Amino acid sequence: MGVFYDEFPFPTFSDENLEEELKYNNREPLEEFAHLSLDVINHYLFKGRGNFSSEFRVLVVGAGTGSTGLYLAEQLTQTNAQIVILEVSKKSMEIAKKRAQIRGLKNIQWIHGSVESLSDIAQTGLFDFIECRHVLDHVVDPTSVLSKMAGILKPNGGISLSINGGVGRGGLIHVQNMVQILTKNEKTSAGKIAAVKEVLKVVPPQNWFHRYKAINPTGHIYSSRHSSGSNSYTDSDIAQFFLKPLDNSFRVGDVYELANKTGLKFVTFSDLSNRITLKLENYLPTNLMKKMAAKDIVTQQKMAELLGLGPFTFHFLLSKETKSEASFDNLDNIPFLFLSPEGLLQVLEEKCKDQDSDGTLSLRMYEDNSHLTQPFSLPCNPHATDFLGSLLKHPGQRTEKILQNLLKKYPELTPEHMFSRMTGFYNAAKHSGQILLRHKSIGGFPRSKISSFYKISRN
Ligand SMILES: C[S@@+](CC[C@H](N)C(=O)[O-])C[C@H]1O[C@@H](n2cnc3c(N)ncnc32)[C@H](O)[C@@H]1O
Repeated sequence: MGVFYDEFPFPTFSDENLEEELKYNNREPLEEFAHLSLDVINHYLFKGRGNFSSEFRVLVVGAGTGSTGLYLAEQLTQTNAQIVILEVSKKSMEIAKKRAQIRGLKNIQWIHGSVESLSDIAQTGLFDFIECRHVLDHVVDPTSVLSKMAGILKPNGGISLSINGGVGRGGLIHVQNMVQILTKNEKTSAGKIAAVKEVLKVVPPQNWFHRYKAINPTGHIYSSRHSSGSNSYTDSDIAQFFLKPLDNSFRVGDVYELANKTGLKFVTFSDLSNRITLKLENYLPTNLMKKMAAKDIVTQQKMAELLGLGPFTFHFLLSKETKSEASFDNLDNIPFLFLSPEGLLQVLEEKCKDQDSDGTLSLRMYEDNSHLTQPFSLPCNPHATDFLGSLLKHPGQRTEKILQNLLKKYPELTPEHMFSRMTGFYNAAKHSGQILLRHKSIGGFPRSKISSFYKISRN
């Protein structure tokens, strides 16, 4: 794999991109990285109490040209955390190093090597957090590699994994298989790429591959800030999509199996569109959903995966601890808005004035530059709406304080009733990526803000 990625480093990073990087000045990270915001990691893996300062150690496995590793290092510059980057492709690592230098990042230790050396790496100490995006896609035995990662985690440590979604990529996989036959006797990458370009021109309309174009107008399967953004594929795009020597793909059941086999606890799908795509309620009418409600969550997600044909990539968190997530029941936690889509409070204020309602409001989030919308629903009552209002208007308050203030406004409600209204809203908004918790002892993470471009529309 190192040989492939020496020729085609990922994410693709040209000399022009490097020029652009020189103009880099604390741009806000894109939503592509939202699942690696310290806010998310803290909420789901460290009970909201992580301060990332007491010798916090991060390992990025297969960091490529930098993407996720640089984002993590950047968020941690104000701490004494150490980021270790492991990468098997020298060329990719050289690019990542240049980018880190441009960004003034001094908290990274670079290791040129393969996942085989994971156990040796821990000789300098165990890790609190391991990040690994699209690397298990390229190893022969993903379970054994994940076991090695589990073996070098601290007792309360966590892992973020991103792996190919086999159902979501169904159309791509067929073309990949066809391309392998086509290019088998081509000796050079240039010859292979030329052959792929030619065959892509004649992919007939019934081929599932065209679904990608319908979903993503640029046709890019990996979203990358450095992808060409045009309708045509670059040579590197072609290599990344079709010519990797090994490109495993997984189904939702495999995600849980990976956790079970390695003794790790599955915490959550960390990407909001994963959670939405895998939520069966988003597809089934109420009567059918009632029949499925008794089934366990994994069975429901398997059905949702087959109905929604997604996701393309699973992003998820695993922990060594049984319970690593911050709890809403801890009144000393501070709930805060994470993605805060535009227009949400306004819609709820307009639609949810009915005092007694236990109903929900169906909504959609959409991105400006995509026609893909994400369905989600929120409890629809004035108490839940006021809870959201207080997060927006008076950020930084503990749950207990918010509860007290809401009870002053609605003295007719018991504390238990009001808290259950807040909990209902919290759970639904967390599911669609909008609320997280951090403990009162933890300040915010200024470099972890994500520039979200979601807007809300009512169904
Ligand atoms: C698809 S790229 C992902 C890069 C980066 N993680 C990202 O998401 O932007 C896969 C990377 O994993 C690296 N890789 C593949 N097999 C590896 C192995 N056995 N050990 C270490 N790195 C490996 C490749 O060189 C490549 O840079």
